Amino acid sequence: MYSTNHTAGSETSNVRVVDFRSDTVSLPTANMRKAIFEASVGDDVYGEDPTVKELERRSAELFGKEAALFVPTGTMANLLAIMVHCSKRGAEAIAGDLAHAFLYEQGGAAQIAGVQLSTIKNAPDGTFCLDELRTRFRGFDVHEPKTSLVMVENTHNICGGKVVPLQWLEDLAKICKQHSSKLHMDGARIFNAAEYLGVSVARIVRDVDSVCYCLSKGLACPAGSVLIGSADFIQEAHRLRKALGGGMRQVGFLAAAGLCALDEIVPKLGDDHKRTRKIAQAINDMNSSIISVDLENLHTNILLLKILSKKITSSDISTRFAQVFSKEIESEITDTQGRGICVKVSARDWAFTRIVMYTNITDEEVDLAIKKIKYVIKEYEQNIV
Ligand SMILES: Cc1ncc(COP(=O)(O)O)c(C=O)c1O
Repeated sequence: MYSTNHTAGSETSNVRVVDFRSDTVSLPTANMRKAIFEASVGDDVYGEDPTVKELERRSAELFGKEAALFVPTGTMANLLAIMVHCSKRGAEAIAGDLAHAFLYEQGGAAQIAGVQLSTIKNAPDGTFCLDELRTRFRGFDVHEPKTSLVMVENTHNICGGKVVPLQWLEDLAKICKQHSSKLHMDGARIFNAAEYLGVSVARIVRDVDSVCYCLSKGLACPAGSVLIGSADFIQEAHRLRKALGGGMRQVGFLAAAGLCALDEIVPKLGDDHKRTRKIAQAINDMNSSIISVDLENLHTNILLLKILSKKITSSDISTRFAQVFSKEIESEITDTQGRGICVKVSARDWAFTRIVMYTNITDEEVDLAIKKIKYVIKEYEQNIV
């Protein structure tokens, strides 16, 4: 066996790495690095960083809201939204049971904000049942917490980059209003949703009270998220950001990358979607009994490879994709320089492995990955009865 021990995006002399673990491993482009280098900066806690101000101004304008706030991470943006919308002790927020804010943010709502998260079952398309939601608002009886917030994720990560329908969002917002509840959108990848729907981000968030998007995922920036909403909401979030340790100083270096991403990367997200679809199509065409993809319902840059065989797990497959054996070199599962192909995907305790596309992945790498993935699937088909 050749080597499998590579860091994100690395290459060794004998192995070519194609890293699909997440769009968070995306790297800043040359323009972005130049923008970072040349950024005008100041102390943002003093409100003196012109580049941060510009990113916030531009974000608010793009999303059709009054104000915006630059924060270090998507996790902090979601937590701030929870803290501002659920300002009274004993509040409850409802989120999908597959929402990032519920699964992967360490229960910050409870741990830090003192807010109880209540989950509603996510459908495979990232939505949840609105009839059920109607029955879930509480706070009329002294025994109950008061439901102050509903959270929706768009695109939906664990549902495979799904874009929730605009009509569903409109209906959801109406229900929240009827129940005097705020609506927050975790739009970590909302620009992918806008690309898929062919509408502006402002249209998507028209009816929500707040939204955040991440610069550090498919937009290839080193760090940063932006939280957006009304002027009052952002004023309070700004105050609380300091308490969470999110007040940063000459952070215009990061905001400069963000501004660059809005101009350079956002218009190209459709290419990531096409490349994702190319891999999905290749796997779908195999009609494999080991792995399948839901080509029809593929929306954006996240592709779930569903594992059909009970004899292998998500981590078995991800390990095998990343390994390079001598027999592969003999079978020319290589790049043009004869290097074996290590495909990195993500796997947890899931019934699928996940491929995430981003701007640094080239057409050549997509073709190399397809070659390797097909080889491994055929290998499993031959060895697993
Ligand atoms: C949908 C979604 N929301 C929020 C986050 C959190 O972002 P961060 O890693 O910047 O805290 C992620 C991260 O992967 C995500 O996928």
